[in-house]
Amino acid sequence: MCGIIGYTGPQRCLPILIDGLRRMEYRGYDSAGVAIINGKGVVVKKDVGKIAALEALVDADPPHGTIGIAHTRWATHGEPSQINSHPHLDCRGHFAVVHNGIIENNESLRETLKAKGHKFRSETDTEVLSHLIEEYWDGSLEKAVAAALRLVEGTYGIAVVSDLDPDKVVGARKGSPLVVGVGNGENFIASDVSAMLAHTKQVVYLGDEEMVILTPRGYRTQTLNEIPVDREIEEITWELSQIEKGGFPHFMLKEIFEQPKCIQNAIRGRLMEQTGEAHLGGLNLTDDELRSVERIVMLACGTSWHAAMIGEYMLEEYCRIPVEVEYASEFRYRNPVIGPNDLVIVISQSGETADTLAAMREAQRRGARALGICNTVGSTIAREADGGIYIHAGPEIGVASTKAFTSQVAVLAVFTLHLAHVRGMNPEVNQELIHELKAIPAKIERILKSDAQIVEIAKMFQKTTNCLYLGRGYNFPVALEGALKLKEISYVHAEGYPAAEMKHGPIALIDEKMPVVFLCTRDSAYDKVLNNMSEVRARRGRIIAIATEGDESVRERADQVIWIPHTIDPLVPLLSVVPLQLLSYHVATLRGCNVDQPRNLAKSVTVE
Ligand code: AGP
Ligand code: GLU
Repeated sequence: MCGIIGYTGPQRCLPILIDGLRRMEYRGYDSAGVAIINGKGVVVKKDVGKIAALEALVDADPPHGTIGIAHTRWATHGEPSQINSHPHLDCRGHFAVVHNGIIENNESLRETLKAKGHKFRSETDTEVLSHLIEEYWDGSLEKAVAAALRLVEGTYGIAVVSDLDPDKVVGARKGSPLVVGVGNGENFIASDVSAMLAHTKQVVYLGDEEMVILTPRGYRTQTLNEIPVDREIEEITWELSQIEKGGFPHFMLKEIFEQPKCIQNAIRGRLMEQTGEAHLGGLNLTDDELRSVERIVMLACGTSWHAAMIGEYMLEEYCRIPVEVEYASEFRYRNPVIGPNDLVIVISQSGETADTLAAMREAQRRGARALGICNTVGSTIAREADGGIYIHAGPEIGVASTKAFTSQVAVLAVFTLHLAHVRGMNPEVNQELIHELKAIPAKIERILKSDAQIVEIAKMFQKTTNCLYLGRGYNFPVALEGALKLKEISYVHAEGYPAAEMKHGPIALIDEKMPVVFLCTRDSAYDKVLNNMSEVRARRGRIIAIATEGDESVRERADQVIWIPHTIDPLVPLLSVVPLQLLSYHVATLRGCNVDQPRNLAKSVTVE
């Protein structure tokens, strides 16, 4: 789930490995460790807790050496503890392994290895790998790793070093990301390109069930059956500054403020206002194929699932095509009805979410075409989808997704336009949507100016323990997203509901202590939401409203109002979500929470 970085070259590797771990710190983890080949053997240093704790450990007795691997762990098997931290060694301490993912058949492998005399130290699934490699060692590290992996079921991104084959780092992956960084006289491996970006922009993405053998002089890629594979070198377009905070106290705040630019990047070059058309290069679907689609099924998790719901409303409204949105984790296990006439749209910021990837593969196996809407270029979903659209939001480091959400919604609007055009819908309606979409970045800028006011509102609500978020129509998924943001980073319990559903249960919760965030913008649901607001007011609920600039009726009913500019219904979420992101950010920081790395969460969830 978390981070892997490996290095082989002429430099002392410890600072490179620690810096790499720091760059991936945002992903969330519970322990960290390194293994370095120091000329005499394999030195392992690891501990539970933050990278700073590992640094203190290595500073006390720095391991020297130019080949090494490092890891941040997000425990799945065995509690976070020193002994369960990675790297893991074999019995004699010659093979060090770091691993992201889950070895599903670890129990049976462990029993077999124990019967052969192997002694285990940790409770992790990972440790079977180092013992298997020891078992198959016959003079070549890559041969032993390949033989071990051929027995493994489950998911993995791994990196392995050994003092018996000392200038190599061997990596492999299945269902968990791993990228090679190609340097000059040195080479890298990492689960996330940001870990190597300070050293190289030349990368090679490994495919599933592929391995790489790195030395300072070069690298080669092969299958687990040792058949060579050719993988092209690709150039990363990100700049180092994009993965740094740029003067903001947290990545999350930086990313909230980046949204005007992100929306521009998501729509740039894709819209033609005069004709009402949209251009999308990577769909790999002809207009005829798009016309023959009978149903769209959207699959995603978390925030991406909320974006999908907005996409559903847009596609049904503009394209008159039935759309279903489903949690990827449910879809994959419930024997869904899906086939060649369905188009599946998979939405994932990371492009690595295990449930989403598995759901996409299941839909493809049943004959459906899959489009991926991803942020991370070269991610597994982006590569395995039949076509796709990148959202171009740039690296999202904060665990709580913000700019990826609005960029996903913007891209869904572009896709809606494209499909509406292909399916012969009214061009004037499209032209209006394009015109309004282009105006969104400047309107977000205006909302961001309310930041100081939102801090004051956050102060009033910082001690709250429960919160309701209510909205209707396009603002219903925004209510869900607002509640998720607050939960994730401030640990305040929050629920999102369609405003009218309130009277079917949640209204019982309302009293003078209960803050209720209303999304009450001037859209087609406006009058109804205003009534719902009066119902809460009558029960003395404390109302924070997100409303369209100048709306007196809302001002009269609410305790606090955050104003947003007007736009057309389908684009309202792009504006109304922004104050909710800021509100949760400020509540969380006032409560002293670690906003960028909330407890128990990981940036990309590569286990199911
Ligand atoms: C968002 O704030 C969350 N941390 C989480 O719900 C996330 O959206 C979800 O895990 C899906 O991730 P993905 O978009 O990378 O697939
Ligand atoms: N399953 C392994 C463990 O629990 C790896 C976890 C990870 O991906 O960090 O140790």
